[in-house]
Amino acid sequence: MTQSASDFMAQALYHPERGYYRRPVGPWGFEGKDYYTALDLGPLLGETLALRLEKAWERLGRPGVFTVLEPGAGRGWLGRDLLSAAKGDFAEALLYLHRDDNPAARCLAEQALEPWAAMGKAQFRSEAEALPPLVGAILSNELFDALPAQPWRWTGEAWEREVLTEDGPGWEAADPGEAGQWFAAQAEDGLQPGDGSVWCEGLPKLVKDLCGSLQAGLFLAIDYGESASRLLSKGADLRRYKGHAVDGRWWEEPGEADLTADVDFTRLESLVRGSGLTSTGHISLSRWIREHAPLAAWEEAWLSLDSVARIKRMENLLQLTLPTMMGERFRVLEAWREP
Ligand SMILES: C[S@@+](CC[C@H](N)C(=O)[O-])C[C@H]1O[C@@H](n2cnc3c(N)ncnc32)[C@H](O)[C@@H]1O
Repeated sequence: MTQSASDFMAQALYHPERGYYRRPVGPWGFEGKDYYTALDLGPLLGETLALRLEKAWERLGRPGVFTVLEPGAGRGWLGRDLLSAAKGDFAEALLYLHRDDNPAARCLAEQALEPWAAMGKAQFRSEAEALPPLVGAILSNELFDALPAQPWRWTGEAWEREVLTEDGPGWEAADPGEAGQWFAAQAEDGLQPGDGSVWCEGLPKLVKDLCGSLQAGLFLAIDYGESASRLLSKGADLRRYKGHAVDGRWWEEPGEADLTADVDFTRLESLVRGSGLTSTGHISLSRWIREHAPLAAWEEAWLSLDSVARIKRMENLLQLTLPTMMGERFRVLEAWREP
């Protein structure tokens, strides 16, 4: 039986009993785990987000309730860091909604968000619940790279899709439909043999649902990825994370390893615009941090910390901004809906 790589990824991550993101114990973090995210490195991302969201709250005229919905919120650590860092009237207005059906992560999120949940400032929503109309922000960290995606490649004459057969992984000729039109339109100098990219079938519906619930405010997505043309020229494919090692062997150990695909930021932006938001584009995480974090003030404050705490802070900043760490491999897309 032949299975498309995208169907394989959907089962490997989201099968109700055997899916990697449906297992009862989470394999995320450092020691003995598969991968870490920006949130394992320290609170700096959440602190920067708190400042960025406070500006959005001001732009909206300082509403009494500023709702932050985080789809794919996992362990809730970004919400925790955001709620810890928010200050004054903005903190009063902040209501954080965690949305992720991952049971192991949800359990950890309930612990991480416990103080705010007790005050009604953090709440949990299941993915089956209708998204509430909200004024505030929708933000995500590594949500879109966890959606099932199908790798395609151009042979020079035809499109092929990646599949798993009884003999192992391979490529077979297939009609890419809309994906083929998109890729052809995005290839800057025309398609070259070996060009290829990943196509996420579920992206339009998810973006439409999320943007549809945002009555006014900021849409912010942080993720692995590139523009469509760069993904095509590098021949983007699926990646597997297991025990902090990364490789392209996506067909091995389904349910026991994380699978991810680069996010096509050109397409994500186009879908967000199609939902009526104004996008300011996508930039590297490094540039976004430098735009929104008051680094001079933080540097001065860090000087008063003991050396262990100071070095941790500096490491956190370097990991988020150095090009080969997260600085250039991650991008941030921002878009806005006027009230
Ligand atoms: C790579 S993890 C990121 C978790 C967290 N944001 C972090 O940075 O640590 C991706 C998460 O997205 C969740 N997810 C996937 N599709 C989703 C959807 N449509 N709505 C909400 N969560 C989703 C998965 O269950 C998983 O917990």
